[in-house]
Amino acid sequence: MKSKNTKGIILAGGAGTRLYPASIHISKILLPVYDKPMIYYPLSTLMLAGIKDILIISNPDDIDNFKKLLGDGSHVGISIQYKIQYEPKGIADAILIGEDFIGEDNIALILGDNIFYGQGFSDKIKNVMERDSGATVFGYNVKTPEKFGVVEFDKNMKAISLEEKPQKPKSNYAVVGLYFYDNKAIEYAKQLKPSARGELEITDLNKIYLEKKQLNVEILGRGFVWLDTGSFDTLLQASNFVQSMELNAGKKIGCIEEIAIKKGYISKEKIIENMHPKFKNEYLEYVLSLNKEELLNT
Ligand code: DAU
Repeated sequence: MKSKNTKGIILAGGAGTRLYPASIHISKILLPVYDKPMIYYPLSTLMLAGIKDILIISNPDDIDNFKKLLGDGSHVGISIQYKIQYEPKGIADAILIGEDFIGEDNIALILGDNIFYGQGFSDKIKNVMERDSGATVFGYNVKTPEKFGVVEFDKNMKAISLEEKPQKPKSNYAVVGLYFYDNKAIEYAKQLKPSARGELEITDLNKIYLEKKQLNVEILGRGFVWLDTGSFDTLLQASNFVQSMELNAGKKIGCIEEIAIKKGYISKEKIIENMHPKFKNEYLEYVLSLNKEELLNT
């Protein structure tokens, strides 16, 4: 049986006040993380997983800037649509806003300020997408779990509870901002009630799957890097990380043009045609230097 199609949603709204004044005039998700806008990273995560139908959700002030940056996605061989979230009503609200876009398909929801890096990650995601039913989230060991959604495990590493930003976390495993759902998420999201902070919590949606024994929790191990770029320190940390990896290896992280060529979404010639004459820098040089055959081996 062929597994269901998965549509991607990037949630790129929110107030962004934690990065004021840097994000008063522009969405924080458009701020640079080293050499590219932050949204390139979650977008590249979806593209690497083979997801080509993507919805970007942002607030009324910022949506046009995202359109200016990424257009309809055809320059990298994918399809991008846009929807406005008028109020930051919570992460699970993305499922409701995206209902028409999702249609009958499964869903990959990623937060615009989450960066993932690690060997074998796309294969891991592709395996997750083979599951037709239920939901999958990822747990990552962190020093400050109280800042995140937290998953607790029993001694067999089976998930037994989920809590959003608990004062006394029951584990050190944060639930990262990448969620896979079957189509039932739409129905479940409609049942959610706003939390004490007035949001439709993604943790509450995940709890529904947990209660129905339909939640898979995959661990991202120590060789894996997950960065939530929501504060000045983590934003700088992310830029430093990307810079260091790129300078050492001579390969870019989150370069959507490279991924599009590697995945065969569009030819290198077409990509270059789309970039010229706007790009006149090292980024263009990098894309010019790419060799599809070599990319397939990396
Ligand atoms: O980063 C992972 C964490 O993301 C999870 O562990 C938590 O369970 C989850 O609640 C979330 O926590 P945050 O405190 O990071 O959520 P924040 O409110 O910062 O929102 C995350 C991103 O989603 C941020 O870039 C803004 C965007 N957003 C958020 C809300 C609430 C929206 O676009 N619309 C919204 O209504």
